[in-house]
Amino acid sequence: MILSIKALHGGYGSTSVLHGLDLDIGVGERRAIIGRNGAGKTTLLKAIMGIVPVREGVITFDGSDLTRMRTHGRARLGIGYVPQGRQIFPRLSVLENLRVGGVGSGSPDWKSTLDEVMDEFPMLAEKANALGGSLSGGQQQLLALGRALMLKPKLLLLDEPTEGIQPSIRDQIVGHVNSICQKSGMAVVVVEQNLDFASAIADTGSIIVRGRVVAELPTAEIVNDRALQHKFLGV
Ligand SMILES: Nc1ncnc2c1ncn2[C@@H]1O[C@H](COP(=O)(O)OP(=O)(O)OP(=O)(O)O)[C@@H](O)[C@H]1O
Ligand SMILES: [Mg+2]
Repeated sequence: MILSIKALHGGYGSTSVLHGLDLDIGVGERRAIIGRNGAGKTTLLKAIMGIVPVREGVITFDGSDLTRMRTHGRARLGIGYVPQGRQIFPRLSVLENLRVGGVGSGSPDWKSTLDEVMDEFPMLAEKANALGGSLSGGQQQLLALGRALMLKPKLLLLDEPTEGIQPSIRDQIVGHVNSICQKSGMAVVVVEQNLDFASAIADTGSIIVRGRVVAELPTAEIVNDRALQHKFLGV
């Protein structure tokens, strides 16, 4: 397992959001996390990153106990995070945004990674000196992805990467993520409401209801099962 989460409880202040959540992700595995608004998907990713405190339970990543580790330590171990809403630095240039990821990796070799990321995303190379905030929403999403890849992650966490972006960029994200996974063996956990996108990246989906994983199914089955979507996703 690259990531193993056991009986996780956590949330915001006195509000519990995760209620005994279990999740195991294999090396190189790609998993979708599916659930209705407010189910706790973002909170789960934040708990994996150490942004939301864990009250009970254990998170293990690549053999290390993360449960009490600080966020930058988790990044250095190789967890890349693309937050919901992208959260790039709008007043920094594209290049500076990527450098933040490189410095966060803690690796002295990040400059060669920068070349690799620029090769993967020619648009970012073209716009290297443009301010992050001047990019379109879809371009910002690619920048957030590039910034996370500056860590050379063993595990990439994506939180609703298709939210509010055009179908053309959606397809580009699928292409980039799938080709990087093939090259590097990176694992992916993608939170996604767009089931077609989820199934284009991940073979298996974990369904979250009220802070717990209640089912794990092939994404192809979830895409085709209207009754299941109605029950768990309210669509
Ligand atoms: N910073 C916060 N402080 C307090 N409560 C929060 C905070 N962020 C989220 N919550 C609450 O925690 C619960 C889970 O939120 P979370 O953002 O994890 O849901 P989600 O599954 O990602 O939903 P969405 O699909 O809308 O992104 C919700 O009830 C939400 O209102
Ligand atoms: Mg969310």
